[in-house]
Amino acid sequence: MAEQDGSSGRREFLRGAALLAALGPLVERLSAAESPLPPVTLPASAGPPTVLITGSNRGIGLEFARRYAERGWRVLATCRSPAAAPELQALAKKFPLLSVETLDVLDHVGVDALAQQFAALPIDVLLNNAGIGGGGDNQLFTRLNYDVFYEVMAVNAVGPIKVCEAFLKNVQASRQKKMITVSSSQGSIGSVDSPRLYWYRASKSAVNMVMVNLAFQLKSRGITIGLVTPGATDTDFMKGLPKRMLRPVADAVNDMLREIDRFDIARTGQFVDTTGDILPW
Ligand SMILES: NC(=O)c1ccc[n+]([C@@H]2O[C@H](COP(=O)([O-])OP(=O)(O)OC[C@H]3O[C@@H](n4cnc5c(N)ncnc54)[C@H](OP(=O)(O)O)[C@@H]3O)[C@@H](O)[C@H]2O)c1
Repeated sequence: MAEQDGSSGRREFLRGAALLAALGPLVERLSAAESPLPPVTLPASAGPPTVLITGSNRGIGLEFARRYAERGWRVLATCRSPAAAPELQALAKKFPLLSVETLDVLDHVGVDALAQQFAALPIDVLLNNAGIGGGGDNQLFTRLNYDVFYEVMAVNAVGPIKVCEAFLKNVQASRQKKMITVSSSQGSIGSVDSPRLYWYRASKSAVNMVMVNLAFQLKSRGITIGLVTPGATDTDFMKGLPKRMLRPVADAVNDMLREIDRFDIARTGQFVDTTGDILPW
């Protein structure tokens, strides 16, 4: 006869909990085995710090490249098409420590090849900036463009973790040891108050989760993971929006640079807004 007082359900729950407790150490061992971390063989960095920036040919990435170069950093300013990046090329002429490199975050073979090319270079700050919005019209419920979902996820969520994987040794060998991703307040599920940008928002929530995982993965190695946000900023990304709703790109980068500088291992895995306050997931 079926038990009416819920004791059977409780027993099932307790059995499940006991099973999970027993499996815990096994799961930990398995996940460690599945993601072996390569040994670090690079010498500790000397000389100016180095930053690698994705999507640095325009918008926020270009401003990051300029600002780090002005600080005297070695800048690996990456972009998809160096030949079509005149502003970045002009920066390279002005700052000898800035070099323009080809990197499309969708091309994982190319990401690995670039990491191979710079295998001996410690990278203090790896800055995942490249991102796409996916186009507002493709993300309207009842008219969702499903192909665009995969593209937006591949660039905004998969691209950053691929770059982190490829350049892990470089960051590990550096002094500052930071992997920073330009996320968005649009990825904050707890802040949603109206429906829009289904794919873009999902991709930024996804990259937040990926980076929190990575924070746990790499904390014992002293590598800091940070998620920063620019606020609504006047770049091609926001084309069409009234200027009065947008902040100048220099202000957005000022705020993010301050937060990147402040990030340390005690704050690894945090998702911060332009004032440094922690955003809800
Ligand atoms: N602007 C804002 O208000 C705002 C707000 C919140 C978050 N964000 C985030 O800030 C970051 C920078 O945005 P932005 O405003 O500077 O936008 P943007 O002006 O549109 O620039 C986007 C950059 O990403 C690059 N990119 C796109 N797909 C790429 C790929 N597959 N591989 C490598 N690079 C690629 C672009 O290169 P191409 O020139 O080759 O296309 C470009 O350099 C993005 O992650 C965005 O989500 C922006």
